[in-house]
Amino acid sequence: MTKTIIPGIRYIGVDDLALDLFEGQYAVPEGMAYNSYIIEDEKTAVLDTADATAGEAWKENLLEALAGKAPDYLVAHHVEPDHAGLIVWALAQWPSLTLVTSAKAVQLLGQFHEGVDFASRARVVKEGDELVLGSRTLRFFAAPMVHWPEVLVSFETAGKVLFSADAFGKFGALSKCGYFGEEDADWACEARRYYFNICGKYGMPVQTLLRKVAPLSPAVICPLHGPILRKDLSQYLDLYQTWSSYGVETEGVFVAYASMHGGTAAAALKLAEILREKGCPKVATADLCRDDMAESVEDAFRYGKMVLAAPTYDGGLFTPAANFLHLLSAKAWQQRRVGLIENGSWAPASGRIMKEAFAAMKGVTVIEPAVTLLSTLKSTDLPALEALADALLA
Ligand code: FEO
Repeated sequence: MTKTIIPGIRYIGVDDLALDLFEGQYAVPEGMAYNSYIIEDEKTAVLDTADATAGEAWKENLLEALAGKAPDYLVAHHVEPDHAGLIVWALAQWPSLTLVTSAKAVQLLGQFHEGVDFASRARVVKEGDELVLGSRTLRFFAAPMVHWPEVLVSFETAGKVLFSADAFGKFGALSKCGYFGEEDADWACEARRYYFNICGKYGMPVQTLLRKVAPLSPAVICPLHGPILRKDLSQYLDLYQTWSSYGVETEGVFVAYASMHGGTAAAALKLAEILREKGCPKVATADLCRDDMAESVEDAFRYGKMVLAAPTYDGGLFTPAANFLHLLSAKAWQQRRVGLIENGSWAPASGRIMKEAFAAMKGVTVIEPAVTLLSTLKSTDLPALEALADALLA
């Protein structure tokens, strides 16, 4: 199935509803979309392909759109396999097809596909280069590390359509969340989980990209995942500005806890209750042992303050909390205030370990003192929880 975005530009991407884990680690209960587009003008350009697992459906869409014509150009904005799985097939199918991509992409494609001569089929483009298709022209912008080094985005100047690669993408198949952004009332939820887990580390490159594309005032944004955005685009640009600058999207406290026998969880949930009673504008909680870890990473970035509650385990930090800290560090989590609840039955050490981990993160301030539990939450611990809540709300 294909969809017209504006006359001359069509969606030919595919949904993958069978996928369990995107990139082998992110749960996608609503599936995933691999977006691909075609521009029909004096010349015909296909923009990106799809994951090879969805190859048959993508070929069907492409061949339907082409209606027997041969495409002139295949533009590859990003050659991660979820978008580049059919490039080799397309080059073999149409010997006159020219691959339009970055020099780095040509190198990376060669690494993924042994024995294929991409260089002889490629027209290498860089920042500022243009591809004239007739009445429509694609202008290219380099977007290194959004989310790989070879990434390009392009701007179709007549229709003011931004082909944004992974930027402005979202988890979820389009048959589930709608093909166009205006059908997707809760775009930010899965777009935020996608952004921070896929691009969270790359705030500076995303800021650089925003400085290039925002002044173009795009009328339509066509990402490689998620809905096509064509209404109230400032809301998406503003969210990307906040996310990529590690700003606070929602005032409130995220309480993340990992608990072996329930004592740490009881303290974390009691703190959440106290925060709500004291008027905290928003309190979100997550069980790091059971809830989606990617969503916890997302919430850590979303809120201005966080509490991490975890017991001591094998003389170190309980594994789910250690994994969470590892992910926060890997995603360059920063510029936040953190409160700590530690637990230990004979030699509490988790507070010290969490503090050391946060000390290595940019602009993260740990609120002193940490709350220390001995095995279970007791009435004598409540003043310390009250004090932590007051410090978080100060
Ligand atoms: Fe959707 Fe970075 O690939």
